[in-house]
Amino acid sequence: MRSIISIALCLMIGLGVSSAQNVVLNGVVGESVAFPDAVKKSGTLTHKAPFSSSSARTRPVSLGQSVTLLCEGAANGPTEWRFKQQQHDQWQSVVALQDGGVSPGPGFEERVKFVRTENPRNCSITLGPVEFTDGGVYECKALHPDRIFSDVRLEVLDPFQVFVELGQSVSLPCRGNINKQIRSDELHFRWQKDRQDVYKHQNSKTTYGPGFENRVSVSLDRAPHGDLSLTIKEARLSDQGEYQCVYNIQKENGQPPLVHLNVTDLQKLEHKLSGEASCF
Ligand SMILES: *[C@@H]1O[C@H](CO)[C@@H](O)[C@H](O)[C@H]1NC(C)=O
Ligand SMILES: *[C@@H]1O[C@H](CO)[C@@H](O)[C@H](O)[C@H]1NC(C)=O
Repeated sequence: MRSIISIALCLMIGLGVSSAQNVVLNGVVGESVAFPDAVKKSGTLTHKAPFSSSSARTRPVSLGQSVTLLCEGAANGPTEWRFKQQQHDQWQSVVALQDGGVSPGPGFEERVKFVRTENPRNCSITLGPVEFTDGGVYECKALHPDRIFSDVRLEVLDPFQVFVELGQSVSLPCRGNINKQIRSDELHFRWQKDRQDVYKHQNSKTTYGPGFENRVSVSLDRAPHGDLSLTIKEARLSDQGEYQCVYNIQKENGQPPLVHLNVTDLQKLEHKLSGEASCF
């Protein structure tokens, strides 16, 4: 009887781990871009065999921002997040989590946050502000026995900066290597702000994100020339943020891969500057 219960328990735990790992693979927090099945498939293997670093899913993040790296199905024991910097061979410690202690590795002091949740198997961390040299592969790893629970490749991007005054129009650049001969009903692309859809064109239909209806547009005539730039009318303060454009069914990244829109309230700025400048 007892062994039946423990087998059932193991099964439950086993299932729990694999579904948690799928969550990890499918999304670092805030992620909404879908990733190919190949990645998910490797996830189902992982509680038997550790991932190889090459399977790590790529997560773009901007300089200066924070990113949460999920590790939700970890073992209940000493765990380490380690990091292999792009174009370097050596693993470095990001943070060691052991007996309630949190020890950040060199270069990560004051930048790694670990929130102990009710779930002791949750070894997710938040890293920020992200530096350019944070780019590389991150692994969440149990120390005894040696086992890897999640991995992700951080790609640190320096966003292209665009400025607009409150209430004015602005164009956010995006170039894509679209098939010149594309039929209009084959044209697929979308713009996202902070990972939420702003503008989506698919099957000859355009849909808008909340607050962007009738304020954003892309010239569909220009698309076969590779120009997917987004025009925003009557810029609002809430438009400030990071924009990304992806195209084709495979969701290829446009160029530049990330655009930061900075909306300035000139009235406020004038007020601030009036003491020090007379050129306004
Ligand atoms: C694990 O922790 C992270 C960060 O602290 C949190 O965002 C996430 O929701 C937690 N997951 C679960 C399943 O509790
Ligand atoms: C927006 O631009 C202003 C002026 O250059 C700058 O002071 C401010 O820090 C920027 N804000 C953000 C969030 O980048």
